[in-house]
Amino acid sequence: MRIVQVPLGNRSYVIKVGGGLLPRLGAECAQLKLGQRCTVITDSNVGRHFAGAALKSLAASGFEPVLITVPAGEKSKRIAVVEKCYDQLAAHRLERKSFIVALGGGVVGDLAGFVAATYLRGIPFVQVPTTLLAQVDSSVGGKTGVNLKAGKNLVGAFYQPQLVLCDLDTLKTLPKREYVSGLAEVIKYGIIFDAVLFTQLERSLPKLLQRNAPTLRAVIARCCEIKADVVGQDETESGLRAILNFGHTIGHAIENSSGYGKFLHGEAIAIGQVAAAKLSQKLLGLPTGDVARIEKLLLQAGLPVKVKLNPAPRKKLFAAMKLDKKVSGGEVKFVLAEKIGRVKFDCRVAPETIHEVI
Ligand SMILES: NC(=O)c1ccc[n+]([C@@H]2O[C@H](COP(=O)([O-])OP(=O)(O)OC[C@H]3O[C@@H](n4cnc5c(N)ncnc54)[C@H](O)[C@@H]3O)[C@@H](O)[C@H]2O)c1
Ligand SMILES: [Zn+2]
Repeated sequence: MRIVQVPLGNRSYVIKVGGGLLPRLGAECAQLKLGQRCTVITDSNVGRHFAGAALKSLAASGFEPVLITVPAGEKSKRIAVVEKCYDQLAAHRLERKSFIVALGGGVVGDLAGFVAATYLRGIPFVQVPTTLLAQVDSSVGGKTGVNLKAGKNLVGAFYQPQLVLCDLDTLKTLPKREYVSGLAEVIKYGIIFDAVLFTQLERSLPKLLQRNAPTLRAVIARCCEIKADVVGQDETESGLRAILNFGHTIGHAIENSSGYGKFLHGEAIAIGQVAAAKLSQKLLGLPTGDVARIEKLLLQAGLPVKVKLNPAPRKKLFAAMKLDKKVSGGEVKFVLAEKIGRVKFDCRVAPETIHEVI
């Protein structure tokens, strides 16, 4: 098992990465000295595979767990579902010392985290992320929240968990497309922060695609370290945390303009990362060889690296980018790379230049 510290003063916690962690959930929670009552919030897919093991482990350690299952999918990240969760917590008399376990991908983590942040003005919560994206990204850093009709993640709170357990065994049942989508975030960490990680990924990609446990353990732990380091320096996103958005400016616009479900998040940001690399080449002198390595690694992982756009969808994509938070004075703000392993944020780019790379 690998342990990653997230240093946030009195809100510090650890992330444990390894196999066989879910059966230890109860024992791990017992060490945190939380209240006896707890709720496991999960979704309909994850619950089928893992809710039994979570409940059994908690009960074996003397807890009285209650299960809340929400429908799988992004649609569960909304206020109406939050309210249903509150009602169930109240019905089961969860009090201040009780805690919530978020068992699932980023949807469950964001939803359950937000419920934990707000129920009784905040009760403790533990994350058990079960997608690759959730293990390397959404479970680290304390962003929780839900969507509004007006847009994604518009309501939320910064709220840190007490513990994160990344059980590699849970990734075995993850559909291939979801798994590969998570690899786009993994590759992103190499580009923004760690040239050595990027080289390791180039070398060990076949093993990673086979979900080889030792490789996954090392890679996931390194990604968590990087995110913890960045979040430790800038918890509430006033500066440095922006580097985590490499590839996301165009990626989000692709997600928003292409219609629900066409691209998974990781697929859209894979395309966004290649476009950002090309912008970086034009504006910051990122070497051509580095652009080629980024494109090749994403391709070999099984991710899309470009999108064909006719005039109408192109217009929609640029409109979506302009609606994004990162626009100032008609220019769009990007995270761009100087070389693999080093990026700059707040780089202003004119729309014509963006047209040239998409
Ligand atoms: N809080 C943050 O910092 C942060 C960062 C990135 C993304 N997010 C959020 O995360 C969400 C996306 O997360 P996601 O990609 O994990 O999606 P998800 O939670 O919807 O999971 C993807 C699919 O896989 C299923 N699944 C999950 N684990 C499984 C397993 N082990 N076996 C089989 N099926 C499994 C789920 O039921 C779902 O159908 C978005 O809402 C996004 O906004 C949050
Ligand atoms: Zn992302």
